[in-house]
Amino acid sequence: MPVVLEIHRGDITRLDVDAIVNAANSSLLGGGGVDGAIHRAAGKELVHECRLLGGCKTGQAKITGGYELSAKHIIHTVGPVWRGGDNGEPELLADCYRNSLEVARANGVRSIAFPAISTGIYDFPTERAAPIAVRTVREVTGQHDGAFERVLFVCFDDATQAAFDAALAE
Ligand code: AR6
Repeated sequence: MPVVLEIHRGDITRLDVDAIVNAANSSLLGGGGVDGAIHRAAGKELVHECRLLGGCKTGQAKITGGYELSAKHIIHTVGPVWRGGDNGEPELLADCYRNSLEVARANGVRSIAFPAISTGIYDFPTERAAPIAVRTVREVTGQHDGAFERVLFVCFDDATQAAFDAALAE
């Protein structure tokens, strides 16, 4: 069965998937945006496990349990901060999607939901980020036929949804 790529409008913490991805910072100890929402919804135990991970570099990904979430796992990745686009930001953003999917596959995750990594506090333009996200997910899932059932792009607002609608339609 080919993988299904879907857009989901709403709060990623409420999704019943094998894993949700967190747009974290390199400390992995929590923050604002979707990171804050995930830590609040998963509960206090999450940060204890995160402390054992020793942080995470930009573009890399690490996995923890989902604690009080419906999702069994959380895959924490660190997106690039947008600094004009000539500092490797597009490649690093693609790395986030690629490495999150590789960590997912290594842990038997078949359904996974991504937020729009880097497009909030880290300021990556959403209309540039969405095609990178969709292209990388298509590429990686295509390399691992049958490994994934569903990949969700979770959109929290109209502009994000419009950008992902356009990227998926290409
Ligand atoms: N569900 C789905 N998407 C959400 C949710 C939610 N509950 N909340 C926000 N978003 P951001 P970044 C969207 O800022 O740009 C944190 O402090 C949001 O509207 O969460 O990668 C970390 O600790 C936007 O579309 O992540 C880092 O320091 C998208 O998620 C820094 O922010 C990403 O926005 C990471 O910044």
